Amino acid sequence: MPATTSTAPGKFILFGEHSVVYGHPAIAVPVLEVNARAVISALVGKPSSTIQIKDPAFNLDGFLKDLPFNHAVNQSIELTLKELNIETHPAFKLQLSSSIPLASGMGSGAAISVAIIRAVSTFLGKKLDNEIVNKIAFEVEKIHHGTPSGIDNTVVTYQQPVFYVKGQPIEKLEVENAFNFLIADTGEKSSTAVTVADVRKSWEANQEKYNSLFKSCGEIATQAKEVLKTSDIERLGELMNNNHQLLQEMEVSSPKLDEFTQVANSSGAFGAKMSGGGRGGIMIALVSEENKQIVSDTLKEAGAVNIISTSLGVRNE
Ligand code: MEV
Repeated sequence: MPATTSTAPGKFILFGEHSVVYGHPAIAVPVLEVNARAVISALVGKPSSTIQIKDPAFNLDGFLKDLPFNHAVNQSIELTLKELNIETHPAFKLQLSSSIPLASGMGSGAAISVAIIRAVSTFLGKKLDNEIVNKIAFEVEKIHHGTPSGIDNTVVTYQQPVFYVKGQPIEKLEVENAFNFLIADTGEKSSTAVTVADVRKSWEANQEKYNSLFKSCGEIATQAKEVLKTSDIERLGELMNNNHQLLQEMEVSSPKLDEFTQVANSSGAFGAKMSGGGRGGIMIALVSEENKQIVSDTLKEAGAVNIISTSLGVRNE
């Protein structure tokens, strides 16, 4: 059986993180500059159905049967085999790697799952279509994140900017003009499962406040969908700043994320916000070709451990 390689990109949430979990609209964008990779090759001379795993980032070097049942890699493979109705298969080795920063709000978990699901199904000669890949990746997300909205696995699977409402058909975004973004990593690792659970506790304790915050975030995402059809960079930036303020009120920002948004805006960005689960992870800033270098330099001076420059709309590929 020929070896197979599958990849899946990173992502950022442009508008509507957390509120999307409660059914409000959100916008997510794939980040093709980074990706997760799964390489599968045949394991000659091993009993059938043996699966060897190598993932240096997690110090994994052993056999699938030795991983906990609930492990994301285990679940991604098991659910794929179940979907394909395969009980016995040729032995194979799965090697994982990723350039997506971990626990930073860039969808590394979803990307690894999608890469594994694609690689396993392709290697076994039954390539799954995106709809099924997305469905399986969502199941894996549920095991690890409790109550995910499904936005991460969706944007990572389809590799397209999406306007997403939980439980509704995927709406791919029409973006006429290019918008440039800088993604600045605070270097503070943060678990989305924890922030999502904390927001739920706060929502349970103060439903009126949180429902109103969620509603406002959803309205911003809906407005942004229209702005993305124009070239109104000022308005898009303003909506990002407004969304960041609502996330502060939701208590999911952090001093570093707040500092980065201020630094970005005062060095010329059109708007900036935290992105993803928050309390660490990444901040995104809307920039132009002309000012992206200065904003990037200033963010580095402020302590960004990594900066990725990406764009939405027009890609130079
Ligand atoms: C994580 O990228 C986005 C959150 O809204 C969680 C989710 O939608 O599942 C924080």
